[in-house]
Amino acid sequence: MTDRYAVFGHPIGHSKSPRIHAAFAEQTGEAIAYTAIEAPVADFAGAWRAFVAAGGRGANVTVPFKQEAFALAEVLSPRARLAGAVNTLMLGRDGKLYGDTTDGVGLVRDLEAHAAPLAGARVLLLGAGGASRGVIEPLLEAGVASLTVANRTVAKAEALAALFADKGEVSGCGFDDVAGPFDLVINATSASLAGDLPPLPAALFTAEGLAYDMMYAAEPTVFLRWAAEQGARSVDGLGMLIEQAAESFWLWRQVRPDTVPLRELLRSEL
Ligand code: ATR
Repeated sequence: MTDRYAVFGHPIGHSKSPRIHAAFAEQTGEAIAYTAIEAPVADFAGAWRAFVAAGGRGANVTVPFKQEAFALAEVLSPRARLAGAVNTLMLGRDGKLYGDTTDGVGLVRDLEAHAAPLAGARVLLLGAGGASRGVIEPLLEAGVASLTVANRTVAKAEALAALFADKGEVSGCGFDDVAGPFDLVINATSASLAGDLPPLPAALFTAEGLAYDMMYAAEPTVFLRWAAEQGARSVDGLGMLIEQAAESFWLWRQVRPDTVPLRELLRSEL
């Protein structure tokens, strides 16, 4: 029986994951089937069990199930524990359910692909939800000099920074208290979805500064348009999506796909 994989979400109709993993499978010659499953909001665990009974070996998990996948996993990777979320599930040979998260490494790989300075960089992270939490430790691991978490709800930024206080130079503040300049500003808020721009001061970027939006769309997000006006180089989150998928594929199959062709292909299809 062909090994089955899937992405679980709700809604899931617009997911690019089936497209990405089908391309990875073709490229690497791995015989897998990968589909999108819209699990009921109240029964992620039931949907996962039905999938396993039908030959499912592993899955990607997206909104709103990353915390439920975290709770369901029997063995958590250290990085999933720190992120408080699981985006990759896999059945081990021992029959146990393993949970990991590849979002943070996906971001770091994409930043590296764009020659973004990480070692020694001053980094501003906008937002203090799950998307932010998942990337803090990988950014610190990559050697950033300091990481400032800024959020609309200041207490959430402070609480998130406190979670990682023993791992590096991390602080939390509100948008009003942001003091630049930064080498890298990452938008991990969901403001772009609504076409909103967090209230940011001018002079936010260093001369070589880079703006990164975890969101992506056919047109630059409002944050990336603003950053370009400030003179910053700007990059959207399409590459992060592809890189986190590649890391999941590697976890499942121990084969690392080449992400470069996918970048061009998906960009052309936006
Ligand atoms: P995710 O898991 O994607 O991070 P989340 O946990 O709902 O989703 O977090 C969304 C983040 O976007 C939060 O940091 C939120 O700010 P608050 O904590 O103050 O709610 C931020 N956000 C959402 N809409 C925003 C907006 N219009 N302007 C600024 N920040 C916004």
